[in-house]
Amino acid sequence: MTRLDGAVALITGGSRGIGAATARALAAAGARVVITHRDSAAAAEEVRLSLPGDGHRVIRAPAADTKAVEAAAASVATVEGRLDVLVNNAALTKVIPHADMDALDDALFDAILATNVRGVFATVRAFRKLLEAGDGGLVVNISSLASKMAGGSNIAYSASKAAVDNLTLSLARVLAPKVRVVSVAPGFVDTQFTSTWDPAVRQRYLDRTPLRRFPTPEDVALAVLAAATHLPSTTGAIIPVDGGRPLG
Ligand SMILES: NC(=O)c1ccc[n+]([C@@H]2O[C@H](COP(=O)([O-])OP(=O)(O)OC[C@H]3O[C@@H](n4cnc5c(N)ncnc54)[C@H](OP(=O)(O)O)[C@@H]3O)[C@@H](O)[C@H]2O)c1
Repeated sequence: MTRLDGAVALITGGSRGIGAATARALAAAGARVVITHRDSAAAAEEVRLSLPGDGHRVIRAPAADTKAVEAAAASVATVEGRLDVLVNNAALTKVIPHADMDALDDALFDAILATNVRGVFATVRAFRKLLEAGDGGLVVNISSLASKMAGGSNIAYSASKAAVDNLTLSLARVLAPKVRVVSVAPGFVDTQFTSTWDPAVRQRYLDRTPLRRFPTPEDVALAVLAAATHLPSTTGAIIPVDGGRPLG
């Protein structure tokens, strides 16, 4: 299967960056796409209008709001009637130097875990029935190289992405054989998410990246697409999209 004609894909946090690029890649492969967002309704609508094909939708569903996520699942069950690919992309972070432990307060720590970890679990839980009702469903969790390197925007974010990779393993076991679950783990990608990084740190990362360029949102989207179309025997895997950064 190299096309996604007839398939339905839902991408959390699809209003810009990696989520929007993923929506475009999956729609170009023929999928009907549902994108969620928290605050950026207008941007999400713009992405929807830019997608090739018909029948794409936007739903407001903050990832940490389980009731909203469950309502989104009910809406997809009613309107699309199926879900083939679920991409857990929405995440929360804030740039805080790792040594500045006082700046990472409990409220932010909890908010990061509620969105990035519990949100992923609650979303899979909400969409499980729809995914299992289909023929070969796929969950892609967008984690991060921070999971492996303990780097990234702050310590809680890094821990949250390690937890996401761990969820990928548990959920791959639980949802097999009907549904595959993988992580796609990007290195540094230029998006709004990383726009407040210190340029010197960004350059240091680049200097240590063997491919001498950062992955683009489209590179990450292609890894998601590949998982959907070309990796039928892969589950419980963490797929890096990082320019070889751990080698640098
Ligand atoms: N950029 C990088 O360097 C990098 C590296 C590794 C991993 N990642 C991961 O890639 C994913 C996407 O990052 P990005 O760089 O594309 O970020 P981005 O450009 O800031 O986009 C984030 C998207 O998620 C939505 N969003 C944020 N919080 C949400 C929430 N609580 N509920 C629902 N939607 C929410 C945003 O829309 P609203 O404004 O509507 O909330 C937006 O559409 C994240 O999981 C991130 O951890 C990024």
